[in-house]
Amino acid sequence: MQNLGIATTIAAAHKDVPGGLLPALHGIQDALGHIPPEAVPLIAEQFNLSRAEVHGVVSYYHHFRSAPAGRVLVQVCRAEACKSMGADALLAHAADRLGCDVHGTSADGQCSLEPVFCLGLCASSPAIAVNDEVHARITPALFDAIVEEARSAS
Ligand code: FES
Repeated sequence: MQNLGIATTIAAAHKDVPGGLLPALHGIQDALGHIPPEAVPLIAEQFNLSRAEVHGVVSYYHHFRSAPAGRVLVQVCRAEACKSMGADALLAHAADRLGCDVHGTSADGQCSLEPVFCLGLCASSPAIAVNDEVHARITPALFDAIVEEARSAS
């Protein structure tokens, strides 16, 4: 209930701004960790849009989540420099070790896996971010150690 109030407040703050829907959705996800599906009608009302239109935007951009992420959010860079240094294999390793698909959350709800496109560490690729902390020159063994530490800390 409180989440819906927060979502409505953020949407209302952007409703008169041209192109304000995306900033509103970013603001809601930053505040709540996801875009609650039950907030979609409230957001639509603020922007005078249909629920389907808002849902379409939320589902179009992979960045937006409809459910909370796990406590350990693992992001693997898939941009060019990291791809040339084995990011695809690293992403497959990550999915295997975390036990979830890309854009998914592990069965125990602890870890989520997302691709990102450049973490600013191109010269030290491949790179990942774990709960917004970036790590460079990632090997599978290093990945496992970083994720294990994050799991035990969360
Ligand atoms: S391409 Fe991966 S950090 Fe820039």
